Amino acid sequence: MSYESNTARYKARVTPVPGRLAGRNALITGAARGIGHAIAERFLREGAAVAITDIDGAAAEAAASELASVGAASAWRMDVSRRDEVERVMGEAAARMGGIDILVNNAGVIVFGSLMECEIGDWERMMAVDLTGAFHCTQAAARLMLEQRRGGRLIHVGSTASLLPTAQQAAYCIAKSGLRMLSKVAAMEFVKHGITSNLLCPEGAVTDINRELLSDPEAMRKLEAMIPAGRMGTVEEIAALAAFVASSEADYITGAELVHDGGAASSALWWR
Ligand SMILES: NC(=O)c1ccc[n+]([C@@H]2O[C@H](COP(=O)([O-])OP(=O)(O)OC[C@H]3O[C@@H](n4cnc5c(N)ncnc54)[C@H](O)[C@@H]3O)[C@@H](O)[C@H]2O)c1
Repeated sequence: MSYESNTARYKARVTPVPGRLAGRNALITGAARGIGHAIAERFLREGAAVAITDIDGAAAEAAASELASVGAASAWRMDVSRRDEVERVMGEAAARMGGIDILVNNAGVIVFGSLMECEIGDWERMMAVDLTGAFHCTQAAARLMLEQRRGGRLIHVGSTASLLPTAQQAAYCIAKSGLRMLSKVAAMEFVKHGITSNLLCPEGAVTDINRELLSDPEAMRKLEAMIPAGRMGTVEEIAALAAFVASSEADYITGAELVHDGGAASSALWWR
């Protein structure tokens, strides 16, 4: 008998707010699929122009054509770990769209394992993409926002692993907690220019990053049992949070961690 998890059964109840992001230009990293793709779609539905960037240029192209009927989407191949590429694409996308108002640092990779198992190559790759990549993009986007003098949004996709050590995710936790502080430092440096910086902390949603792992019903059951809400989140729910943070309704929110976890992080000591 096939097993249908609570997560698979749940259908996200989200409603984009038409026009809420009208006139804003967003650049999203790692947006060809998964959470980044959902954020791109949501931003387009709310009226933003969106540069869909990804290391996988063909997948970025496919995403932009798929979303062309929704709004002004463009595709760019951009590896966030390459500073030259980040600076070039950021400049070209800004020129094409008429500036960048919203950066979403979403691109991320994970190699599972404990601290002692972590190979130096995997460590360096996770730091290069999940942390240094976000640093490159933040600097490049903030420079544009400061020149534009019309404020801006820096939105970083962290994780509950930004907040708490998570088993078998050693280097990932360390990179994502660095991203948390990058977000806070940026918040302090740019607040007087009307640029906010916030960290989204999802516990999880099924995407290519974990699909294989969670195709094992036992692994899914175990994970759901550790989340008080009894299910994982959805990419559409995470995108809804990103759209709120990107909107003017969130003008006063900066340096914050927006935890999206069905109670998982709060429950750390509850079960003891
Ligand atoms: N899915 C989850 O459960 C979960 C939970 C917490 C946080 N996150 C975070 O959300 C973000 C998105 O993850 P996802 O689950 O959608 O994964 P995903 O694998 O579906 O998507 C990640 C995207 O990033 C791209 N990418 C990888 N390396 C890149 C690079 N160097 N430059 C540019 N793009 C690159 C990939 O090509 C892919 O399109 C990541 O930062 C991840 O750590 C995911």
